Amino acid sequence: MLKFLIFLAFFVIGVHGIFGPADAQYNETEARMLLNLAAAAYSTDATPCLQRTFSPSETQTLLTTFSVRCDFIGNPCAGYIVVSDALQQITVVFRGTKTNSQLLLEGWTTLKPSADFYGMGLVNTYFRSGHEKTWQYVQDALSNPQYQNYDVYVTGHSLGGALAGLAAPRIVHDGLRQSHQVKVITFGEPRVGNLDFSRAYDQLIPYSFRVTHAIDIVPHLPACVKDLSYTPPAGSDGSMPCDPVSTNGGYHHGLEVWYPGNMTQGSPYMICTGLPRDEDFSCSNAPKVDLDDTTMGVWDHRNYFGVEVPAFGKGGCDPTMTFKGPPTKTGVLSLVSSVFGRKRRAV
Ligand SMILES: *[C@@H]1O[C@H](CO)[C@@H](O)[C@H](O)[C@H]1NC(C)=O
Ligand SMILES: *[C@@H]1O[C@H](CO)[C@@H](O)[C@H](O)[C@H]1NC(C)=O
Repeated sequence: MLKFLIFLAFFVIGVHGIFGPADAQYNETEARMLLNLAAAAYSTDATPCLQRTFSPSETQTLLTTFSVRCDFIGNPCAGYIVVSDALQQITVVFRGTKTNSQLLLEGWTTLKPSADFYGMGLVNTYFRSGHEKTWQYVQDALSNPQYQNYDVYVTGHSLGGALAGLAAPRIVHDGLRQSHQVKVITFGEPRVGNLDFSRAYDQLIPYSFRVTHAIDIVPHLPACVKDLSYTPPAGSDGSMPCDPVSTNGGYHHGLEVWYPGNMTQGSPYMICTGLPRDEDFSCSNAPKVDLDDTTMGVWDHRNYFGVEVPAFGKGGCDPTMTFKGPPTKTGVLSLVSSVFGRKRRAV
């Protein structure tokens, strides 16, 4: 009986307790809609994607488009903000980098979090600088009294996900909205801050899903500090979990939703509430990431829900578009069967 109760408590806490209110449920339909908006940020005109994503009764009106000079990788930090009066909703969308895959992985990937973020912990200096340069647009839109009761969605793909991961807690921190009014879904987001930032973020943003795709390399960067007390089992690929107490390296905020497969309709996914918290070792951290062979990891980064995100956005989210397949298929298939064919690993 006692065992059963302990099991039950563990289950209930594991599913609902630690990660905020029970209403923070991952909704794939919502995630797919937000991916379209994140993709649209790669286009000079978000309108075609907006029109294809929302029915006429839920029309989204463009409030602001912004593009400012940013340090990261010499690219602008860009995005747009839309509002729907019917849904009483504002959506803030940040663009990822337009540079090629090689450049994507340069500059920010080795930096430890070192910049204070309004007392919420340390974050990456590149991302913080991008945040500062775009914040004014977010602040202006959310301060408009006309929209003061509107909920706020924040989204972005890749480095746009990093900017979303900073803007969202700042919105609550600055009192522009309350925690329950802000919802975040990002795609292929890198680690934006350290463990302290992660904990502060989770307090402020209980409705937050960080969607990751198979071996997408970007969520593994900048690196976390590995938990050296862990011994990889014989026959494993030697992958190590993140240290759940070190504040020294990068550390993700909540909550990962990992798709080990190709993310087409019906593709299985995992809600990553396992340990270490926010760096669940049975999700994308389980397979060892080969930083020397980034071909597949970059392909997985650019492709979410069956579309190549930047190209899909530039093409106006046209559902008839087709995209190049992955460099090899075997990796993906074996990943799915290795994840769903075994028990979840205990840490
Ligand atoms: C999921 O999101 C979609 C789109 O916003 C919405 O229509 C639907 O009701 C949501 N489903 C649940 C179970 O909340
Ligand atoms: C995606 O994976 C599923 C299941 O493994 C497979 O049936 C389907 O053909 C794949 N689709 C693409 C476009 O690769």
